Amino acid sequence: MATQNIYILGIESSCDDTAASVIHNGRILSNVIASQKIHEEYGGVVPELASRAHQQNIVPVVHQALKKANITKDQLQAIAFTRGPGLMGSLLVGTSFAKSLAFALNIPLIAVNHMQGHILAHYIDEDGFDKPPFPFLAMTISGGHTQIVRVDDYFDMTVIGETIDDAVGEAFDKSGKILGLGYPAGPEIDRRAKLGNPKAYKFTKPKVDGLNFSFSGLKTAVLYFIQKEVKANPDFIEENLNDICASIQYTIINILMDKLKLASKETGIKHIAIGGGVSANSGVRQALKDGEKKYGWTTYIPKFEFTTDNAAMIAIVGYLKYLEGNFSKQDVAASARLKI
Ligand code: KG4
Ligand code: ZN
Repeated sequence: MATQNIYILGIESSCDDTAASVIHNGRILSNVIASQKIHEEYGGVVPELASRAHQQNIVPVVHQALKKANITKDQLQAIAFTRGPGLMGSLLVGTSFAKSLAFALNIPLIAVNHMQGHILAHYIDEDGFDKPPFPFLAMTISGGHTQIVRVDDYFDMTVIGETIDDAVGEAFDKSGKILGLGYPAGPEIDRRAKLGNPKAYKFTKPKVDGLNFSFSGLKTAVLYFIQKEVKANPDFIEENLNDICASIQYTIINILMDKLKLASKETGIKHIAIGGGVSANSGVRQALKDGEKKYGWTTYIPKFEFTTDNAAMIAIVGYLKYLEGNFSKQDVAASARLKI
């Protein structure tokens, strides 16, 4: 591997972040993200606006990624892009751009599954970060997905558990909305949870069989609880916001950890990785680390910048597929519901 000299451009546009990254062999040279602030006003991602913003951002973002990597486009060996899952209007921008650029440069095109990206981000060469050995379990937790995946090889993955309704990120964001927090609320709940009592209020955990998750009930429980308390005391939220955030986060972490424990027990796999936006959560990170002592796990927590949506994770999958000669044709289509 040391003798090769492979530069790959990764492009990510599945939701509301326009991102581009250059990877040289396994190492990231640039990781550029243009987040779309416009959605904050609406309390959630507006697909039509996301698509338009991608159109505006994609050329400058790619340009900046190449510039930061200190290479020209002619040095690229391949273009990797997010094919899905995600919002169709958003995916189409990255897909069309990647196809055109690969065609113009006459280099291979590599379609990447966004969820595989969140998992394989662990294979980016980073000092101080170990790569999980196969097989391992990956819990992907984001605004769009909540899955436990058994990973037997780079491209041999099996979803063994997933949400039957809302994603865990939605549980954070929708609870935050009820509390009047901005979008996305996850980071703010995380920050406030550190200052509050996680056992101040109790929210019941959903009863879902096996390794599947459910989060829609929590959102409803939070809504009813807040409505009731605010009726009695209109200042209830302001007076207790940190405790409310800590209690919601505590419940969410328990739901995640219960299933992860069960998955580890059922499969006998003790190498556990997390990925996706919610893996930025400090409580989730701590709970996972605690699993090392409690259950004998070896845990893999991605570098902060590779947790929420980014193109470095797309570039690393591009690199791994490049090594296998696993390329896509020009007629490859974006797929909103692409499966792992
Ligand atoms: O992976 P991501 O950037 O986009 C999707 O593919 O969905 O994840 C975004 C989600 C949002 O729901 C956001 O609230 C959540 O990740 N998030 C967090 C934190 N940082 C981002 N949730 C809890 N704690 C955080 N620190
Ligand atoms: Zn994501």
